[in-house]
Amino acid sequence: MPEQKIHFHDMHSTANDLLEDVITGLGKSPRSIPPKYFYDEQGSQLFDRITQLEDYYPARTEISILQKYKQDIVQSLNKHCLLIEPGGGSCSKVRIFINDLQPGMYVPMDISKQHMLASAKQMSKQMSWLDIHAVCNDFTLKLKLPDGLPDAARVVFFPGSSIGNFQPSAALQYLLDISNLLGNGGQLLIGVDLKKDKNILERAYNDSEGVTAEFNLNLLTRLNNEISADFDLQTWSHYSFYNSEQSRIEMHLQSMCDQVVNIGDHEFYFAENEKIHTENSYKYTVEEFQLLGLEAGLQVDKVWVDDGKLFSIHLFTVKTK
Ligand code: AVJ
Repeated sequence: MPEQKIHFHDMHSTANDLLEDVITGLGKSPRSIPPKYFYDEQGSQLFDRITQLEDYYPARTEISILQKYKQDIVQSLNKHCLLIEPGGGSCSKVRIFINDLQPGMYVPMDISKQHMLASAKQMSKQMSWLDIHAVCNDFTLKLKLPDGLPDAARVVFFPGSSIGNFQPSAALQYLLDISNLLGNGGQLLIGVDLKKDKNILERAYNDSEGVTAEFNLNLLTRLNNEISADFDLQTWSHYSFYNSEQSRIEMHLQSMCDQVVNIGDHEFYFAENEKIHTENSYKYTVEEFQLLGLEAGLQVDKVWVDDGKLFSIHLFTVKTK
């Protein structure tokens, strides 16, 4: 059996962030829980199922763009680069072009350790030439690479419109962080979901098979399992809609009755119909996102869009004076 070139770096903050963040978020008005907590083992699997849904156009559209423009994309990227993928949970999109790109090293980062390890191992088996350094971290907090990586040109691949989880000001800050990590000449290949007909958007986040609802509600199951909350899953429902003023899909969990939920010593009273805001997914036009990149000091290189104008993949280069 060939030697597998895979290394693992656990850079996860081990403190009980979940409990603290949930208590803080539920104490706010309106109540909220950060979307990164969707991704426990079960949540990561549910998300993978979402990406296979007919109603969830972003994943398959982004994949079709990567497939169609693979040559152009690969030719535009730094050769033998150190390829970094924040949130690269199941590494499925990078597979489309990684063989052609032949990066010097692949660095997937994900908050879900088991999920990432399983897919990194599988990838390493299929591509024995590939040097993989898998990093378990919360990429929404700090983009940090492990020490001792080679001094190659860097490329960040940030697909899936994950940037849409940040509000525009935080997205700008995140682009600045990426730009710092990349250094001069580094490149960012980033997938961004586009503004479009409200019905198409709302169907993607309230699919007919109910997987998105399961994904949203799984957050409560996780809180029951991990921080001894006593959410009664029968009394909560999935609610999502497109907020056109803010250009974002909002996901909420809505209480179907007046009730009290206990989490440790904390008691939370929920009135009937009261909501917990669990996710925002911002949508941009191509021009709006290019402007955001420019604001972060990134040079606009290229953009690839599907014929239906549903989704965009941008290439930016860091140019420091
Ligand atoms: C992973 C944040 C890009 O916003 O479309 C999918 C998450 N939430 N369905 C998105 C998600 C509900 C997804 N992102």
